[in-house]
Amino acid sequence: SIQNIPQLPPDPLFGLKARYTADTRTNKVDLGIGAYRDQDGKPWVLPSVKLAEKAIHEDPAYNHEYLPIAGLQQFTSAAAKVILGSDSKALKDDKVVSVQTLSGTGALHVAALFIKRFYKGSGSVYISSPTWANHIQVFETQGLKIESYPYWNYATKELDLKGFLGAINSAPEGSVFLLHACAHNPTGLDPTRSQWTEILGAIKKKNHLALFDSAYQGFASGSLENDAFAVRSAIDSFDGSLPILICQSFAKNVGMYGERAGVFHYVSATKDAALQSAVLSQLQKITRCELSNPPAYGAKIVSKILNTPELYAQWERDLVTMSSRIKEMRQTLRSELESLGTPGTWDHITTQQGMFSFTGLSKPQVDSLEKDHGVYLVGSGRASMAGFNLGNVKAVAKAIDQVVRE
Ligand code: LMR
Repeated sequence: SIQNIPQLPPDPLFGLKARYTADTRTNKVDLGIGAYRDQDGKPWVLPSVKLAEKAIHEDPAYNHEYLPIAGLQQFTSAAAKVILGSDSKALKDDKVVSVQTLSGTGALHVAALFIKRFYKGSGSVYISSPTWANHIQVFETQGLKIESYPYWNYATKELDLKGFLGAINSAPEGSVFLLHACAHNPTGLDPTRSQWTEILGAIKKKNHLALFDSAYQGFASGSLENDAFAVRSAIDSFDGSLPILICQSFAKNVGMYGERAGVFHYVSATKDAALQSAVLSQLQKITRCELSNPPAYGAKIVSKILNTPELYAQWERDLVTMSSRIKEMRQTLRSELESLGTPGTWDHITTQQGMFSFTGLSKPQVDSLEKDHGVYLVGSGRASMAGFNLGNVKAVAKAIDQVVRE
């Protein structure tokens, strides 16, 4: 019989969303789940997406047929070019196997299964402390052991590079290191280029497996090239010696949140056609067992954008629109807090990048913001910067000022 099923607490992010939705205060502010909002606080359908949808609907061949098990090939191969670069040596050398996934989480799930079944390493997956809440359970539910590496120095609000490198050096040879490609979630703090070089050098030396979670390419800095720096450096530096796994999401950078358009890429260390064909067959089996074949609509939209030069150019402008509005909100929030003389330092708000700011607010302060001011952010003090706009930033700064002084 079915019994003894323990009740789980609500998901930290979607539970927060549910509390926000149920709140009847008209001045409530949602700084929870990372989803872009425009200057009026509304979800934004990217102009490039609107154009792509129009073109898809006007195509006489429009239909809702199944995609192949590995997904829409024009989508996955164009997606590989986005992350690896159109002149990527790995692509030219034919070392990349790509399959469509249920966005970033689906790609991470595929990575977890792939590692569990086929990776003969130390068995542990190292994640940053802190990291995105879902990372832990995606790997743990597959029976993989999670370890954490130091990342955020709470005292200085800077990268704990020494701790990070120490963990890489002391992890058993061949461990898996999950790396945020850019716009680290939740801290918004990314290693500098020279820090990445050190980190990747240490990973290579220990023969660890680098697993990149790339959920914010182009969204962080406004430049697709810039935000791919870490991934492309790893590809260059590991070429010929170590494979690399990449989980790519188009939820944020194309605003395809609910359409679940993502890709898992396996980049082989050396060209090995038989191995790559075997990898593809196994990835296809994972998909076939779990979802038969991936959802088509979001993939068709993203594919249309990536494969149509004018739409690609519009998408690049859309990325700048989103990232620059967020940067502006970072500046405004920081200067509001500084002009209120709010105790503490607030420069980290503008040095961090991407969707989130790790504000440094404590759990009790976050609780008071929610209870007394209708301002919702994650318990860790993570705020989605996209939730700010000129209509609410002053009020939120005042609310923060108040809870910090309480
Ligand atoms: C977030 O961290 O808020 C987003 O990535 C949404 C999610 O799926 O948790």
